[in-house]
Amino acid sequence: MIDLKKVRADFPMLRKLPKMQGYDLAWLDNSSTTFKPDSVIAAMNRYYTEETANSHRGDYDLCYQMDQEVLASRKAVANFIHAETKEIVFTSGATGSLNLVAFGYALKYLKKGDEILLSEAEHASNVLPWFKIAEMTGATIKYVALNEDGRITPEAVEEAMNEHTKFVSFAHVGNVLGYLLDAKKIAGIVHSHGAIFCLDGAQSAPHTKIDVKELDVDFLAFSGHKMVGPTGIGVLYGKFELLEKMDTFMTGGGMNVKFDLDGSESFLEPPLRFEAGTQNLAGIIGLHAAVDYLQSIGMDEIAKRERELKAYAVKKLLETGNVEIYNPDSESGIVTFNIKGVFAQDAATYLNSLGIACRSGNHCAKMLYHKLKTPATVRASFYFYTSEDEIDRLVEAVKKGGNYLDAYFN
Ligand SMILES: Cc1ncc(COP(=O)(O)O)c(C=O)c1O
Repeated sequence: MIDLKKVRADFPMLRKLPKMQGYDLAWLDNSSTTFKPDSVIAAMNRYYTEETANSHRGDYDLCYQMDQEVLASRKAVANFIHAETKEIVFTSGATGSLNLVAFGYALKYLKKGDEILLSEAEHASNVLPWFKIAEMTGATIKYVALNEDGRITPEAVEEAMNEHTKFVSFAHVGNVLGYLLDAKKIAGIVHSHGAIFCLDGAQSAPHTKIDVKELDVDFLAFSGHKMVGPTGIGVLYGKFELLEKMDTFMTGGGMNVKFDLDGSESFLEPPLRFEAGTQNLAGIIGLHAAVDYLQSIGMDEIAKRERELKAYAVKKLLETGNVEIYNPDSESGIVTFNIKGVFAQDAATYLNSLGIACRSGNHCAKMLYHKLKTPATVRASFYFYTSEDEIDRLVEAVKKGGNYLDAYFN
């Protein structure tokens, strides 16, 4: 069981809560980004204060030490998702990872007449690269039908697949409704049609145990900053045989073996082939510390705690009689709602006036309004360090309801 007091003491942002509008901050926007524990900050500080050097660039101890740190981080990340070390590519984040798959892999293998299967619930980062690939290759984009609740079911995926489907890319956990995809079953369906399956793990890797071998996904993308790690660092997992076939998206220093006046060039093996330029070394080291931190708590404990928080929030919010909740049954710690009769952005501004940070709008999933039948929602998203007190503050604010809001805005 997670010891909330002990865990919160690890986070400077929680030890000394910043004031927002005169109130202690209640941070309920963890799907957007997460706070960092001391160990992550210390690891990054160590890089800047004691061991600043580049990696793969010098013949001196400090550089060699950096190579070892990068390798150790790659191993830790591989272990975190049960991959091989050589299958972990460091990127700038989930967005960088998805763009690398799109422009490195799909651009090379897709052609006119092929289909890319997505869903209306995807984040911009798992839509816009595919729009570009479709434009560049002549492939078309198709959307799987979401069920009544907004979930992607294996049956709907089977229904949407045909001999033209070459690439399928879905969020493992959606960032608005928070449903956990049956990735293993869907991977089986996608592969039975000979297509490639990419999983956007931005909202799953921080919150749930992932075993890429068991799921049998081809690619998995995620971001460090959503899992108590630094910003500007992310991961693309790819099956090694696919990484070997993938084109480079960026070229430059650190990824090549040689190049010459005649235009000849040769590149390193994956994953280094995909890490052109100086890597985000502080980020890589910080990500290692983040993975260690999450594992010291335990991914199963984290998932369990978030499910408890979600159930608590849904129950309390529904008791107010003042909300419509769009995802009461989803597996993750995301509650997406509207205060009855109040536009989402107004509601979030009102919550801000009480020191409560929630996201409002369409949360970068700009096609989902077709399904939700509302232009905007409020999203409260929890992490293992979220307290019931913070949720109570949200509930109290919602309880005051329309009258209070009228007074606030008029
Ligand atoms: C489902 C999903 N995919 C991709 C991203 C993009 O992540 P990043 O901005 O860290 O690259 C996000 C960020 O919110 C997300 O929620």
